[in-house]
Amino acid sequence: MGDVEPLYYADYLQLDRLLSSQDLESAKQGETVHDEMLFIIVHQAYELWFKQILWEIDEISDLFSQPTIDESEMLQIVRHLDRITEIQKLLIAQIDVLETMTPLDFLEFRDYLIPASGFQSAQFRLIENRLGVRPGDRVRLAGSPYTTAFSEEDRSRVEAAEKQPNLFELVDRWLARTPFLEQGDFVFWDQYREAVHAVLDHDRRVIEKNPNLTAGEREEQLRSFDHTFDLFEAIFDPERHERLLATGERRLSFTAFQAALFINLYRHEPALQEPFRLVTLLVDIDQGFTAWRYRHALMTVRMIGRRVGTGGSAGAAFLTRSAEKSRVFSDLVQLATFMIPRSALPELPPEVEGRMRFRFEDEA
Ligand code: HEM
Repeated sequence: MGDVEPLYYADYLQLDRLLSSQDLESAKQGETVHDEMLFIIVHQAYELWFKQILWEIDEISDLFSQPTIDESEMLQIVRHLDRITEIQKLLIAQIDVLETMTPLDFLEFRDYLIPASGFQSAQFRLIENRLGVRPGDRVRLAGSPYTTAFSEEDRSRVEAAEKQPNLFELVDRWLARTPFLEQGDFVFWDQYREAVHAVLDHDRRVIEKNPNLTAGEREEQLRSFDHTFDLFEAIFDPERHERLLATGERRLSFTAFQAALFINLYRHEPALQEPFRLVTLLVDIDQGFTAWRYRHALMTVRMIGRRVGTGGSAGAAFLTRSAEKSRVFSDLVQLATFMIPRSALPELPPEVEGRMRFRFEDEA
């Protein structure tokens, strides 16, 4: 060990390479535009954070790919997901820094960038594919698949990621394996269905007997009630579930959907607390990317108004549509529709509850 050179900060971080990687196009064209440095550095910072997010997703996917996931692995998955949500906050905050550049400053060098665009960020597409954005959900640019914008090397990396098991699929499989849903005579789905019907019957009676409603108002409220009733009926009917899967309106498998609901409804049980954190973090990550996309679209309007983007899209309109289509865990986001009050929840039989409680008992 004695002969080893002491590590030097700048060498460890390869700062010579990192800090000499800002080549301003405007300088190459003969007139340095001050704000182009900020533009490059912000994009580079994004790419570094994208790398870190992919690093976390790799680890999460490895942990999820195991046949059984024990308590300590669950804690690790939660830690990595939590880290991603913290990075996402930075990603959104960075837009404020970029917006210190005015549209007029941007115009000074914007034309030099064509046809380069964030649309060509391979790491961003890798994140999307590893999370589970479906190829069919992508908004096409000028009728072409998103991959046409890439170099051959980037295209093959991004396409390979489309074929890897994505986080959505891994989570679906993990949820479908949730224990406790059926034990002995206890079948959660049957019990929950009964409880739902009791709650809905009560709600219907409240509308029917409300003396303050006119006949028209009552009819209107009963119509909305029937709509809610139908939403519930759809989750109980495997064939309707299949149809929703086929149209893409739902993504989670029938059993995974039940498990996600079970975890949310009984999250107070010790064994379900970490699974609940996990599904909540997936919702946070999904919404974090959606929030970034909308924020980026707003910045785009501010910077270029209604002009087309450097990558050739319709600009902000394209981005808003892409934000709406790129959600992965919407089924988890929408679970709130199917919550029922705690007081109406079916009680868990002692043997199920016993399996979900940890005890720290004195041996004496
Ligand atoms: C002045 C600042 C920016 C403007 C005006 C802008 C504008 C646009 C526009 C118009 C598009 C649509 C494709 C196109 O026609 O080019 C786009 C896509 C994109 N941009 Fe930006 N952008 C800016 C900064 C950034 C930054 C800092 C990032 C961070 C990496 C970024 C990442 C992306 C990504 C990932 C897409 C693809 C989004 C999708 O397909 O849903 N952009 N941008």
